[in-house]
Amino acid sequence: MKVLVVGGGGREHALAAALERSGAELYSAMRNNNPGIARLAKEVRLVRETDVSSILEFARAAGVDIAVMGPEAPLEAGLVDALEAEGIGCVGPTKAAARLETSKSFARELMQRYGVPGNLRFASFDDLDEAKGYVREAGFELAIKPVGLTGGKGVKVQGEHLHDIKESEAYLEEIFGQGLGGGSVILEERAVGEEFTLQVFCDGRNVVPMPLVQDHKRAYEGDVGPNTGGMGSYSAEDHLLPFVSESDKEAALDILRRTVEAIAQEGHPYRGVLYGQFMLTRDGPRVIEFNARFGDPEAMNVLSILETPFLEVCEGIVDGSLSPNVSFARKATVCKYVVPAGYGTAPQSGKPIEVDEEAVAREGARLYYAMVDGEAGRVVTTTSRALGVVGIDDSIQEAEEACERALRHVRGEAIFVRHDIGKAELVNRRVEHMARLRKA
Ligand code: AMP
Ligand code: GLY
Repeated sequence: MKVLVVGGGGREHALAAALERSGAELYSAMRNNNPGIARLAKEVRLVRETDVSSILEFARAAGVDIAVMGPEAPLEAGLVDALEAEGIGCVGPTKAAARLETSKSFARELMQRYGVPGNLRFASFDDLDEAKGYVREAGFELAIKPVGLTGGKGVKVQGEHLHDIKESEAYLEEIFGQGLGGGSVILEERAVGEEFTLQVFCDGRNVVPMPLVQDHKRAYEGDVGPNTGGMGSYSAEDHLLPFVSESDKEAALDILRRTVEAIAQEGHPYRGVLYGQFMLTRDGPRVIEFNARFGDPEAMNVLSILETPFLEVCEGIVDGSLSPNVSFARKATVCKYVVPAGYGTAPQSGKPIEVDEEAVAREGARLYYAMVDGEAGRVVTTTSRALGVVGIDDSIQEAEEACERALRHVRGEAIFVRHDIGKAELVNRRVEHMARLRKA
């Protein structure tokens, strides 16, 4: 079976590796030359991931059977619609179904229309003065978000990034002034609690959950600094998280199931991976956002322990016969991204990183290349995340230790890692925070 993977980050290296393990013949369309993917692929086309006609032509010429989408930009550009029109099945939603991610107001309005639980109070504006008026009069704390795509970096939260009405108004002026995320804004009630990610496979109707993961968006240790695409993530051997119970997970899964039903009823069945970013509040999980794809880094956690052949899962998604029995190893995972020094503000590109891949494997870890140039083993940083290292073991603590041992085989002068991810101190802080909220 010939499978095209679109995208060239750590997430897509994990997708490619899982497909390769299940016997797929790989083709890759990516902007950068990810050395991990390049090594696995029969053929690579270096191309903008939104260049629908070039990717279509490549897929046609190679005779691919299935295309697996990594990032969101090609979804919004209509790549899935174009491939499906050619008879190429896709793991990834059509442009219309991808609005769950590409339009934050569409997603909240859909939830509201269909009575999907887990929504937050919200209002969207395409007028600056009306938005300012809402900010002044809301009477509760808000998250301020550009409506469209901003690469996960456009959200500012009152009480975290915005300290008074003045700063909030200044941010609104920036959004409207610069046309960020399409130049309209959604103002949402701020949810207080602990965040977690639930990703599901979906064939338009059937919804199959993956292990829960917690990502770390802030650039620096102790959860401070600017928001990033994600610095690292962990998952637990029981596929829950130390602060999330089975019933919390069920509630989040119910929200995703009902969202998938709602969008099918709108005439846009959702095929692919649906990613729910949740805030676990004292009243249960609330939706922070949906993504119409795997998370990055979260894909690296779950795909590293997927036991069912990934190709089988993809075929089930494409032809609407997804089996509920998708199995993951009862293992914990801790993923830490190696990023260029200065990532989040002024990343240092062009700096070498040396990787001893065999030594990484001996430590019980997997390594996924992301936005780097060069050859496997000897790469050079760009301004984005460089590579992900995933420790796998029986507990979060042991997986974290495996990850750290493996990281010693990744050397560079100008790299940065959030070493606190998956360490007991940080995990316990989240457990205690949740316990305090539940008592209050
Ligand atoms: P997003 O790009 O929507 O994932 O938002 C980035 C980050 O902003 C999230 O991971 C949350 O930490 C925070 N955030 C977004 N929306 C809210 C909200 N309604 N309440 C509290 N925090 C939020
Ligand atoms: N890890 C967050 C994302 O993929 O958007």
